[in-house]
Order: sequence, then C-alpha cells, then structure tokens
Amino acid sequence: MKFHILTLFPEMVPAGLGASVIGRAIERKLIEVNAVNIRDYTSDRHGSVDDYTYGGGAGMLLQAQPVFDAHRAVAGGKTLRTIYVTPQGKPFNQRLAQELARERELIFLCGHYEGIDERVLEEVVTDYVSVGDYVLTGGELPAMVMVDAIARLLPGVLGNQTSAHRESFHNDLLEYPQYTRPEEWRGRRVPPVLLSGNRKRIEEWRLNQARERTERIRPDLYQRYLQKEEAIRRLARKKRNNIHLMETLARGDGEILYERGDSLLVCNPGCDFCLIEAGEREDAQAMLSLIPQSCELVLTGQRFVAEMLCAHLGFFVFHECHQLCFTRREALPVRYGDIRELGEADIAYVQERYRLLQPRYAKERIRAGAMYGAFAEGRQVGFAGIHEDGSMGMLYVDEEFRGRGIGAALEAYVINRELEAGHIPYAHVAVGNEDSLRLQEKLGLYRADRTVWWLGRDPESCGK
Ligand code: ADE
Repeated sequence: MKFHILTLFPEMVPAGLGASVIGRAIERKLIEVNAVNIRDYTSDRHGSVDDYTYGGGAGMLLQAQPVFDAHRAVAGGKTLRTIYVTPQGKPFNQRLAQELARERELIFLCGHYEGIDERVLEEVVTDYVSVGDYVLTGGELPAMVMVDAIARLLPGVLGNQTSAHRESFHNDLLEYPQYTRPEEWRGRRVPPVLLSGNRKRIEEWRLNQARERTERIRPDLYQRYLQKEEAIRRLARKKRNNIHLMETLARGDGEILYERGDSLLVCNPGCDFCLIEAGEREDAQAMLSLIPQSCELVLTGQRFVAEMLCAHLGFFVFHECHQLCFTRREALPVRYGDIRELGEADIAYVQERYRLLQPRYAKERIRAGAMYGAFAEGRQVGFAGIHEDGSMGMLYVDEEFRGRGIGAALEAYVINRELEAGHIPYAHVAVGNEDSLRLQEKLGLYRADRTVWWLGRDPESCGK
C-alpha cells in the first residue's frame, strides 16, 4: 500500500515512521511512504505558500494553488481517497483504520498555520478526519498516527496475524492486564491464576478482566459487545445455518447495522462485505436500504433476499453454496507430513493454479498468514486456506498428486489451525461440487439444511 503525505515539513515523516515495525515494513516494501513538500509546487517567485485571510483574522492560510498542484502531481489523474487531517474532521478510530486499510493508495493532506483555502479542499478532499478533540500545531503527527494504525493492519506488517487480532478494540473489548518476570515486584504479585498453567482458567480470567475494564472505562464499547454476545447466543440455536454470522461477530470481523427479531444485517469494518439474515420481508427492505454504497459482496441464507438484491440494487448471484460447519473441538489427525504456512516465495505457485481467485487476493491471503501448502519431492503440490470472510476454502492439489489423501490432509490441517485460533471452522461448497461435499463430510463437517447465496456488484470479480 502507498501513503502520500502532503506537507510543508516532509523531514518529519521519516523521523516518525522510519523506525521499528513501520520502518521495517517500508524496508521490506510492504508499504511505501512518500512525503511530498507542498512548497516544491508553489508558483510564487519567493517560494511563498501562505497568505493573509480574507475578511481579517489572525494567522496565515495555505494557498490553494500549491496544494492543488502537489495533489495533482501525486494522484497523476487517479481518483485517490484524500484525507485532510483537521480537528474539524470525523474522529479517527479502529473501524476507520480498517476501512482505509482496504485502499491501495491514500493521500494525507496536512495543514499548518490557520488552515488551507477552502476552495482546494472542496476540489480534492474526500474525508475530513481528526485524531481527537484537541488542537495540534500541524497535521503531520495525526497523519503519521493514521498511517501507523492502518499499516499495521496490512498483511505481513506485524508478522504474526494473531497479534492484530487479540488487542484493544478488536471485538469491542479493551485488552486484559499482562505481566512478565519477576513474579513479585515492589510487593505486588502476579495474579496466581496466570501461574497455574490451566489454559481454560487463564482464558476465563482474561475475558473477565477485559469485560470489567471495558464496562468501567468505556461503557459505550461494552454495550456494543453485549449486543453482539446476545446476537451470537440467539444465532446458536440454529448453528449450522447461522455459523457464518456467528463467527463473523465472534471474531470481531463485523458490526451489527440492523437487528430486529430474527433479522440481522452485519457489515465488515471495511464496509465492503455484508451478511443478511431476514426474518420478514419488511426487514429485508429496511436492511437493503442500509447496505453501504461501498459494499461489493453480500452473503445471505435466503433466496428472496438474493432476488431483492438483484432486482433493486443491481447485484448478481455468484454462487449458491452449501454451508458446512465443524462442530467438534478436538483436532483431526493430519495424515500427511509436509504441510506448512505459505510465504512470499509461494505466491506465484498459487496465482498460477487457482484461477478462480484474483491474483491480488491470493497474494493478500498468503501475506495474511491464511494459506497453507503441501510439499512433495522438493516442491509445492497443493494448498488450502481461509478466505477473507473467515470460511475455509481454496483447496487445490496438482493433478499428478491427487488420490493420495493430500487434499483431506490439507483441509484437516486448516481445521486444526482454526481450532487453535479459537474459531469454529466452516466452509462453503458450490452446489453441484459433489467431490468437495464428500470430502467435507468425511472430515466431520455437517451441512446446514439450507443453502446460502454469494452476490456481488461486479459480475467479473467472482466475489473475491
Ligand atoms: N491538526 C491539528 N490538530 C489536529 C487534530 N486533533 N486532528 C487532526 N489534525 C489536526
């Protein structure tokens, strides 16, 4: 991902983002940070970029022309999301970070002095964003705060994807307290449960601490958390049918936009994927009107919702699928030795063989640590993984290695990884793909008593 920061003080950018995790991500070319000096684009002979405010008032204002030209040079004719960092903007939060992390390129415009001429803002800015209700001397620090928060969500930047998952704001709970050696420090002891070695009790203690902290410090977040917990409890009455909704909420990958009776509209943080469960026709209508413009993909368990999406919002049906879920907690035996997580070097192999996916999607999944490969005779011979929506899939084995149980072993391996992460593994199998269905059922996945529909706005993208 590429970040452009338009500023009068470009030297602040490498000083703020050149070290540690973000510095390493830049070195590894996972992200690019381009600091652009607005002053380089002035047409004023003396290099001036600011002037007095019409109507009077204290301070100087950045002029429209150098900002406009700097923006045009960076955007190069593309329409790029352009964020003006300003205390007058909407508040920046984890959800907005997740939404912005889906862009390929972002422009941050940093103001100084008293601000920027309104006319250029009207021409180039798409989002006005603030980092909090206080006023700083310029927009560089807020822009860098946002770049940091966005970049760490990108595949590969943190190295270990679980660390982005288990932290404050991920599922609306603040993080629990943590301790390291020594066991006693200035008379304060580490809570004994953490020394007990009892995984289950430790997890319970951590969850209780997180809940207690959140309720005390952030009652607003706590209410959202309780609403999701209640929805998951209700959905669990028909677990096989609702596993996609339950897991999306439980993993902190979706927000509830509408809830009434048995009807639920859930949207992912990037607002490009929605799940709809409609109890009544009138709820379906209400939910359709709430689907964000940015939503490209919808999953629903009801044919009439799929038909309404096609008729009223111009969606297309990509697939009708069986939904299957793994209901046990014990790991499966993996009857093939050479399976491991895929890395950068394996991207081309997957891209060449799995044509159902966009090449970019395969790369993202590998970088997210969500794909595993089987190896034989010194080379890769197959793969499987977890889709962006959380379901298992993308199973492939080279023709000459089929019939040896490698596909089943890959899938068992993915199931075990999901169980380790505390997830309930589930999968979608296109109606008609009897081989895959047989494999899933052999591994112990159970089929829901209805199918689900994947729909999208772009008939070419095939949903991924
Ligand atoms: N520029 C000055 N103060 C700011 C703030 N709080 N958020 C974003 N940009 C700013």
